[in-house]
Amino acid sequence: MHRTIFLCLGLLSQAQVLADPPPQERQETLRNMLRHDCGACHGLTLKGGLGPALLASDLAAKSDDYLVDTIQNGRKGTAMPPWKPFISEQETLWLVQTILKRH
Ligand code: HEC
Repeated sequence: MHRTIFLCLGLLSQAQVLADPPPQERQETLRNMLRHDCGACHGLTLKGGLGPALLASDLAAKSDDYLVDTIQNGRKGTAMPPWKPFISEQETLWLVQTILKRH
């Protein structure tokens, strides 16, 4: 009995690094945004354009924090705009982890 509880706690604390997935409808909105809004600069298939490629293999070496910060605040002096007014930090983390295929 106790062992089961500890096992579950262990799994829970590991899972905490993953963002809570937004509700299904919001997930679709965010995926559409990624394709169309982000895709306008990063390419419809995210292979790059005005902005760099955003495929899992391109971003794998970068930390979640760094990527979330870039998306939330944009990059001053470049075309990358801040998305803070449109998506929350949790949603941004979910998006990053979706791009990285961790969800
Ligand atoms: C108006 C054009 C534009 C749009 C729209 C845009 N980006 Fe960018 N993005 C850029 C540019 C340009 C850079 C490169 C900035 C630099 O030189 O540091 C960039 C950089 C990034 C980076 C950093 C990549 C790396 O390898 O460090 C991420 C992540 C990113 N964008 C994600 C997004 C996401 C997610 C969206 C949509 C929510 C988005 N961008 C929309 C232009 C854009």
